[in-house]
Amino acid sequence: MWQINGYKILAVVLVFLVWMLCFRMYWPDSTTIHRPPGPHPVFRHASKSTESPPFWDSLPQELTNLTSLLYWPPTPGDGGDLLASTSPQTSTYHLRGPAQATYELGGLLEVILVARDHWGRPKSHGGDLFQARLLGPESKAGVPGDVQDLENGTYLVSIPLLWVGKAQVQMRLIHSSEAVGVLRRIWREKRATVDFRGYFQGMKGAKETVVCNVDPHSTGVKGPTCQYRDVVSGELWFCAQPPTLPCNSLVGHSAGSYLKVTTRHDEALLAWNVTDKLLPQGIPPILVSPAAHWNIVLALPPRPPCHPGLKSPKPSGFYYQNTWHSLSCSGRTFPTADSILGCLAGRVVHMIGDSTLRQWWEYLRDTVPCEWWRGEARDTRALRKEDVNREGFAEGNPRVWWRVGQDAASL
Ligand SMILES: *[C@@H]1O[C@H](CO)[C@@H](O)[C@H](O)[C@H]1NC(C)=O
Ligand SMILES: *[C@@H]1O[C@H](CO)[C@@H](O)[C@H](O)[C@H]1NC(C)=O
Ligand SMILES: *[C@@H]1O[C@H](CO)[C@@H](O)[C@H](O)[C@H]1NC(C)=O
Repeated sequence: MWQINGYKILAVVLVFLVWMLCFRMYWPDSTTIHRPPGPHPVFRHASKSTESPPFWDSLPQELTNLTSLLYWPPTPGDGGDLLASTSPQTSTYHLRGPAQATYELGGLLEVILVARDHWGRPKSHGGDLFQARLLGPESKAGVPGDVQDLENGTYLVSIPLLWVGKAQVQMRLIHSSEAVGVLRRIWREKRATVDFRGYFQGMKGAKETVVCNVDPHSTGVKGPTCQYRDVVSGELWFCAQPPTLPCNSLVGHSAGSYLKVTTRHDEALLAWNVTDKLLPQGIPPILVSPAAHWNIVLALPPRPPCHPGLKSPKPSGFYYQNTWHSLSCSGRTFPTADSILGCLAGRVVHMIGDSTLRQWWEYLRDTVPCEWWRGEARDTRALRKEDVNREGFAEGNPRVWWRVGQDAASL
């Protein structure tokens, strides 16, 4: 039982590593809550790598499907010439068809985007990460467009026309294909991009802290290591051997520091001056009109009420008058603090997730005048009904907790 607990933690640590690598850069405020080591010991496991089946062979079909979603076109790189990478200043876009005086509500706007390098030469391969949007500032409206990589330097952008009124196409280069190539190379070749601290605790309370990682070499640890194996995936986790405590006295982790994994050239490709930049406006504002004989302003299909498990169309919805409209289901809106309170009255809401969800918790805390509990302070797994009632809140006062979803996510 104790051993299984330990391995669960390791599995979660590995999942969290991937999570960190993928998302950390987009969430500068990402969760790095340090919790004191918990009570789960992790046992040392002798290395028997030849006996376990290869990781990829035992993957279920679902994971194979997921990896196929990660498909990205080849990114040949710039051959060392920064100016041969895709530029947000010289890339252009135009309407696929002839311009029209007005566009019909419910139609599709098609746009051709031509990627160019800093010299202005058209690119001959794809792999750039462009992002398209249609915005209606007067209607406080916006919808994302679908960008299809034709893999020859051009991209086909399709944007649904979902509201009546003025609209403006906006195109951004998030990362050049050369920058994507850098990220992909690091993802494939560098097993570790951050390091971790491992906390060990002895029977008599002695505590020791060492460096841990998925790869013992990338952190420069010399000398003996403790090695742990995930029973499900077979993946390994290493910690430097603590000075006096045994390997099985590992009780917890926290995030350490970033490792140096990029060259100067890589950094220039990923620098702020070429990242998430607007392209010069390529299409004048368009006007969307209602379909003949219809007096509607939004193109919304008949939708069932929202419930969990619904498949999400692309795009999943849009904003109009600052309100989100799902294209798969009809939801309710809670525009005022009173309406939020009315919905939450007498309820206890547990938000279990990452920093994206924590932002919802913070939004509620700042929007609704009521006594909210700080989510981080509480481990709500241990919270029972009696505890909730004992806190002396007025009857009907909602309580909203947020906490990280996994043990390891509090690294
Ligand atoms: C994997 O994808 C195939 C084809 O899209 C689908 O038929 C199958 O149900 C998927 N399997 C799982 C486990 O998601
Ligand atoms: C890119 O590919 C698309 C689709 O195959 C084709 O229509 C278009 O002409 C090509 N563009 C260039 C510049 O080769
Ligand atoms: C972006 O900034 C880097 C230095 O931070 C510089 O080397 C590079 O030339 C700049 N790129 C462009 C396109 O201005």
